[in-house]
This record gives sequence, C-alpha cells and structure tokens, in this order.
Amino acid sequence: MKKVIALFATSVLLSVSSTGFAEGNPESGKALHKEANCLSCHTANPYSTAKTPNFERLVKAVDFCNTNLNTGWFEDEVLDVAVYLNQKYYKYPR
Ligand code: HEC
Repeated sequence: MKKVIALFATSVLLSVSSTGFAEGNPESGKALHKEANCLSCHTANPYSTAKTPNFERLVKAVDFCNTNLNTGWFEDEVLDVAVYLNQKYYKYPR
C-alpha cells in the first residue's frame, strides 16, 4: 500500500510544473487515445483548428467525447489526451 501511495505521489509531482499548473503527459495521452479508439470516428472527421480554436476549447472537446462515449477518463487523463492532440494536431501555445 505504501508503495502505491508513493507511486501516486511521484506521478502527481511529475505532472505538475514549477508554476503549479498541471502540464499533462502526452505519452500517456497517446496511449489513452489509442486504447479508446478515438480515430474510429476522427479519421473520417479529422481534428480541426477551425472548430476548436484554442487549448481550453480542446480540453472541453476531449471531455465532451469522453463523457458522451462513457470512456471514463478522469480529469488528468482528459488533460493528457488534450496535450497529446495539441502536440500532434493543434499546436496551440500553452
Ligand atoms: C462515435 C464517434 C466519435 C468517437 C468514437 C469520438 N468522437 Fe470526438 N467527436 C465526435 C463528434 C460528432 C464531434 C463533434 C463534431 C464536430 O464538430 O466535428 C467530436 C469532436 C471532438 C473534438 C473536437 C473536434 C475538432 O475538430 O477540434 C475532439 C478534440 C474530440 N472529439 C476528441 C475525441 C477523443 C479524444 C475521442 C476518444 C475518446 C473521441 N473524440 C471519440 C465523434 C466521436
């Protein structure tokens, strides 16, 4: 149990930047995105900056699909996926 708590504490520390805001983890986001098979829809309906004009909206869009599809991601996982999609497609400054 102690080990689990220590691991958890480490991952929380790693995902928080020096400014105290969550950074998100694009590697974990990439894996989650693949696992959830998001591209089953988003190959035909590609991610587009026209509909999602900034990073904040991107996080909301990811959470929208997460909620509607019952993917079950927690807030930090939604952020990880948003950071991954931002790195790969949207390229918004954060
Ligand atoms: C059943 C089909 C479907 C699946 C599966 C799906 N989405 Fe979506 N997604 C949509 C639809 C429909 C929209 C909104 C339509 C639009 O405006 O393009 C959308 C919009 C989005 C947007 C914003 C679109 C843009 O152009 O910027 C993001 C980001 C997004 N989804 C992420 C995800 C993620 C992450 C997953 C995997 C958990 C996922 N979606 C799975 C159908 C789907």
